[in-house]
Amino acid sequence: MLGAKKRKAAGPAEAGGRAQWASRIGLILAMAGNAVGLANFLRFPVKAAANGGGAFMIPYFCALVFLGIPLMWVEWTMGRHGGVHGHGTTPGMFALLWKHPAAKYLGALGIALPFVIVVYYTFIESWTLGFAWFSGTGKYFGLTTRDAMGQFLRGFQGVEQNQFFASWLPLLLFLAITISLNYYFLRKGISKGIELLAKVGMPVLLVFGVVLAVRVLTLETPASGVSTVGAGMGFMWNPDFSQLGRATVWLTAAGQVFFTLSLGMGIINTYASYLREKNDVTLNGLTTSMTNEFSEVILGGTIAIPVAVAFFGVVETKLIAAEGTFNLGFQSLPVIFQKIPMGQIFGAMWFFLLFIAGITSSVALTSPAVAFLEDEFKWKRARAVNTVFAVMAACLVLVVAFFKFGFLDELDFWAGTFGLVVFAAIEIVLFSWVFGVKKGWKEMHLGADLKVPKIFKFILKYVTPVYMLTVLGGWIYQDAIGKLLMKGEDQSRHP
Ligand code: ALA
Repeated sequence: MLGAKKRKAAGPAEAGGRAQWASRIGLILAMAGNAVGLANFLRFPVKAAANGGGAFMIPYFCALVFLGIPLMWVEWTMGRHGGVHGHGTTPGMFALLWKHPAAKYLGALGIALPFVIVVYYTFIESWTLGFAWFSGTGKYFGLTTRDAMGQFLRGFQGVEQNQFFASWLPLLLFLAITISLNYYFLRKGISKGIELLAKVGMPVLLVFGVVLAVRVLTLETPASGVSTVGAGMGFMWNPDFSQLGRATVWLTAAGQVFFTLSLGMGIINTYASYLREKNDVTLNGLTTSMTNEFSEVILGGTIAIPVAVAFFGVVETKLIAAEGTFNLGFQSLPVIFQKIPMGQIFGAMWFFLLFIAGITSSVALTSPAVAFLEDEFKWKRARAVNTVFAVMAACLVLVVAFFKFGFLDELDFWAGTFGLVVFAAIEIVLFSWVFGVKKGWKEMHLGADLKVPKIFKFILKYVTPVYMLTVLGGWIYQDAIGKLLMKGEDQSRHP
């Protein structure tokens, strides 16, 4: 199927009328926007803090090198290959790699998972927009304790009615704006919508991120604080080898690497399907990973945790992290913004940065469903986008209504944590063993601007699959069975 004949027939000029990226920089920014998301700034600091700070970073870098980067190349390669043959989603892509009727059904996960994720992801994204507004307008200023901020947050989320929010109206308003913006960029298409959003959004995000990181690093020891930013940096970076024996730290690190790089979701594949046949995937794939890691480790790691340690101390920061993903970003940081000069501006910047990170990822998460309807049913983009958004709106009603019962956490566990690992395991087995690493390597290096070191051939064939399957096995043993049996429900609510 990869023969010269087929390639010729499906060359870029006649790529079945499929959309394409307009420029290389646009492609890189769109892919970076896809990867850089809420996970970089909210999930990473919380996972790191809850898993021992520096102790977390060793398993994290192992997962990055042996799982993240190889899978990034695999998904880019699969995606470009699929796109050249007219398939922008994994059912078609898997069927090209494995001539078996089951292939496309396995591939269907690459549409279902991102769709489930985007439903709750959009909801969280709308909170960031709301909080950008509340910070800029100073609405929560005066609520100087974590408890008071917690009440404010729960009132906004509709979990409880209180003196801050008497109705769900503000929540629904920000949700409606968020959905409309997502709709607008997706409806506009690949180069005029998604690429444009990334070209404007990503530079703004990076500038805001750098400004916030510099602000944190130059913060004097706060008068009202209990520690220092330096101690916070030490907590993030001093390795603690005693933690390495804990399986859960390794599993969490692998899960974080998948989520943050957008792997095992089918969405890198879909974006790569809009490449031309000979567009580079190796250097671009590596650039995407590195941009994401800069945002996550350097920016994400410098902002939330060090400042939280400075104001609350290591012990309380760990407690905040253990409470869940959102308490650090939405409850603790707003308390801190009220204690630093120009806190309204820095608060608005923080939440707007989150919003940009969110929207550039949520358009990616919605893309497989849209691309599937366009490619496989030959629907026009408008019809595909309208249909996907109608279904999404209906699902969002459930997420909003059942949020207080932990529905979002359930979806995040099954789709955003467990599902990704399962799907990525399927991908690596298909690529390296069914399709074959030899053919895969050749396909990956078509038009490549970077020759991947040969050692990665070995890694792709043996190390990544074994690592993947070990993580998967560990997860099933440790988390999934317990979840299915609904054991320890109270402790497990940490997306
Ligand atoms: N990779 C995206 C994120 O980090 C989905 O949020």
